[in-house]
Amino acid sequence: MTIEEMKQEVCDYAKQSYSEKLFAGTSGNLSLFNGDTMVITPTSVAYETITASDMVAMKLDGTVLNGKYQPSSEWRMHAAIYEAKPDVRAIIHTHSPYATAFAVNHKNIPTILIEMVPFLGGDVPLAEFAVPGTKEVGLEAVKVLTERTGCLLANHGVLTVGDTLARAHIRAVYVEDAAKICSIAMGHGDIVTISEEHISAMRGK
Ligand code: 13P
Repeated sequence: MTIEEMKQEVCDYAKQSYSEKLFAGTSGNLSLFNGDTMVITPTSVAYETITASDMVAMKLDGTVLNGKYQPSSEWRMHAAIYEAKPDVRAIIHTHSPYATAFAVNHKNIPTILIEMVPFLGGDVPLAEFAVPGTKEVGLEAVKVLTERTGCLLANHGVLTVGDTLARAHIRAVYVEDAAKICSIAMGHGDIVTISEEHISAMRGK
């Protein structure tokens, strides 16, 4: 994939995620990494008007290669994850409301839906709070992204990863779906999580 193709894909998923209400305002950011260059959404640009040429190409050390805007304020978080997890090539950070509410409660999203096992690896764990814009946000996420492809960032939002943007994106959709259904179910009474035995059986399939 060329840098131009990466920019188009990042832009397309940014617009799609915005229309799906995974982001509010200009919040959220996403990136693709080809092993050398990261293409990431610019900071604070309205998703309604964003175009592929607004995406920023940069190195993981912060060197901006091209782009008319500053990169996302969370570029260090993205870079820290790519550095720590070589299998990850795409990252989406959302502020989707039901899932972010769990991050405000400092609660993980328990394994309540079958999709969570194949798409997310199980429950959605909570990463400890770190100051936005610092590398530590990514390092805290890396700590809980073992055997998992999505996590919550305390008092901040959601982060999902993948080998493609398509996979990182569908995981962000399933994190929000699980959080929404869990919230509704908690209003009905006690929730029942999928047993460890059944989770193991699903992983073994
Ligand atoms: P950016 O607009 O700088 O990407 O920041 C938005 C955000 O979601 C911070 O967590």
